[in-house]
Amino acid sequence: MTDQEKYDKIFEANKQWIEKNKVDNPGLFKLLVADQHPDFLYIGCSDSRVHPNQVMGLKPGEVFIHRNIANMVIATDLNALSVINYAVEYLKVKFIIVCGHYGCGGVKAAMEHLDYGILNPWLRSIRDVYRLHQDELDIIEDEEARLRRLVEINTYEQCLNVIKTTEVQRSFHENGYPRVAGWVFDINDAQLHDLRIDFEGELKKIKKTYNITGKASK
Ligand code: CO
Repeated sequence: MTDQEKYDKIFEANKQWIEKNKVDNPGLFKLLVADQHPDFLYIGCSDSRVHPNQVMGLKPGEVFIHRNIANMVIATDLNALSVINYAVEYLKVKFIIVCGHYGCGGVKAAMEHLDYGILNPWLRSIRDVYRLHQDELDIIEDEEARLRRLVEINTYEQCLNVIKTTEVQRSFHENGYPRVAGWVFDINDAQLHDLRIDFEGELKKIKKTYNITGKASK
């Protein structure tokens, strides 16, 4: 198949998808036009092998999605922060999930001592996670096992970054949601692993330093 044929096939597949849903899922399009009320915000890696709706078994309209290289939540990234703000303040999601995956190319690149050009500042944030947990990571001799552990730790740290945001702290205080969870998807067997983050415990710890829900005076 030529590249152009691959491209054209998308529109053919779209038509087939519409026809299939008319039969299997008759109310779907009406539901989509009406509004979106997803319970979940999913923050995951851009990796083409990890598709949030498929991984979670959810239909269109059921999960709000943000993806970037290595599922990062960086304090100055207006893109990620805007998604979190919208999801919490307007969609009122009940869960925010950060989902990493084993075999993550972004995390692997951060472990290599190579110049990745424009990617360097992005990878720096992952290298910062490595530095923060260097004692634990350095003693893992097997490189594959070390990469797997860094994927888990990075996912955990990005959950903490979500908890550090004002929106999450304030909304949880006022409404009892959203809760933040960390998952790792295994591309070898398609299983989802829950890192079982102690959300309320972490929130309490984080508030000691990052509680920014008070009003700043001039
Ligand atoms: Co990845």
